[in-house]
Amino acid sequence: MSKSSFTCNACGAAHKKWAGRCEACGEWNSIVEEAALASGPAKKSLGAAKGRRIELSDLTTKDKPLVRAVSGMDEFDRVLGGGLVPASAILVAGDPGIGKSTLLLQAAAAFARKGLKSMYVSGEEAASQIRMRADRLGLTDAPVMLAAETNLRDIITTLDAERPDFAIIDSIQTMWADHVDSAPGSVSQVRAAAHELTTFAKRRGISVVLVGHVTKDGQIAGPRVVEHMVDTVMYFEGERGHQFRILRAVKNRFGPADEIGVFEMTGAGLAEVPNPSALFLSERDQPASGSVVFAGIEGTRPVLVEIQALVAQSSLATPRRNVVGWDSGRLAMILAVLEARCGISFGGMDVYLNIAGGMRISEPAADLAVAAALISARQDHPLPTDTVIFGEISLSGALRPITQAEARLKEAAKLGFCAAIAPSSVKQASTPEFSLKKLSDLAEFIVEVFGDITA
Ligand code: TYD
Ligand code: MG
Repeated sequence: MSKSSFTCNACGAAHKKWAGRCEACGEWNSIVEEAALASGPAKKSLGAAKGRRIELSDLTTKDKPLVRAVSGMDEFDRVLGGGLVPASAILVAGDPGIGKSTLLLQAAAAFARKGLKSMYVSGEEAASQIRMRADRLGLTDAPVMLAAETNLRDIITTLDAERPDFAIIDSIQTMWADHVDSAPGSVSQVRAAAHELTTFAKRRGISVVLVGHVTKDGQIAGPRVVEHMVDTVMYFEGERGHQFRILRAVKNRFGPADEIGVFEMTGAGLAEVPNPSALFLSERDQPASGSVVFAGIEGTRPVLVEIQALVAQSSLATPRRNVVGWDSGRLAMILAVLEARCGISFGGMDVYLNIAGGMRISEPAADLAVAAALISARQDHPLPTDTVIFGEISLSGALRPITQAEARLKEAAKLGFCAAIAPSSVKQASTPEFSLKKLSDLAEFIVEVFGDITA
């Protein structure tokens, strides 16, 4: 019986029938009909299947120590978890034009210069175009093998013949398997190509990087469809108008998730930014109301970022709540706590919140800095420019403990700040050079910083 199935291009969820909106991810117009895969002859008995059995205790790390390959691009190596794990599969996803091909060509060249056999397979550009890009990036001397290819069978034949250590597939949406009966870019093609490439690469000890374009219209399968098939998922992000690009590990079997690498797009490719705090704060000028410096942790590294808020009288029935770089649900919560626990209302006011430099923060430790920026903007009361703030706010208005206070304070001191406001659970103490104010709840914080605010 031939059956077709319906799959969401955005998240890969399977549905029994077509619908205008995918229930799994909420995307509109992303469900497409797919012919079911031809099923092979049924296996006779599972019990008869023979597999190789290994005891966990047989696997000693002594036999084959896990040696990570280091590219020398520190920002890239760090996001990998300290270097490339042999035979691992990595997805690098991002908006078209953000710089994925540039980043990976640079990484391939860096690995090649360290003696790894690197290969760059492009389904989007001709070999001559890749060479032109390499020329612009000053990488023509690096021994990277190039292939312009989209047929999966040909790619696997090439990989098998060349046996590189490191292969880049740019992009997974342009690859097609001839045994799958649907167009390149469809969920079944992307899935089949990713599955075959990753299993083949694992068997042959090749590390593969799959490039995935984040798609907006739902016509082409998005990178989320392959996220579960790979060991590491990285998102390459940044604002179009900004030069900064952030490579963020959102899943990593071999390292910390949430690790970031910061780059700057220049005329000669991506340059590493070893000290992102200085970069994110460099746009800061005079003391202004609504501007607060948050001492955050991204992965294993402390990063200082500026949080900006603007509060204005609204002419709308439902005032605006506009957030860039932070969670809008979290903003609603902070506004509610300010109103319920501290009597500071933002009703009738438009609220804009922005994380400077195109950064995106997901840490709850930013709560207190956000609250400070909001009140500072509302009261038109600038905060001292030499102070950093961090702390999580609970629904009761209490300031909750946060992790890695020491690293945050160290980074702040390193960048010339000389004061911090933090939850009372922080163990460090003030020193003559660095004053640390420890507070236990939000109301106390407001009195301390802004004095008496009456409505
Ligand atoms: P690209 O790596 O092709 O993006 P993706 O593979 O994610 O689609 O990068 C494209 C953009 O980067 C393009 O707008 C031009 C810019 N760029 C530079 O600014 N400098 C450079 O050295 C290179 C190679 C690209
Ligand atoms: Mg590209």
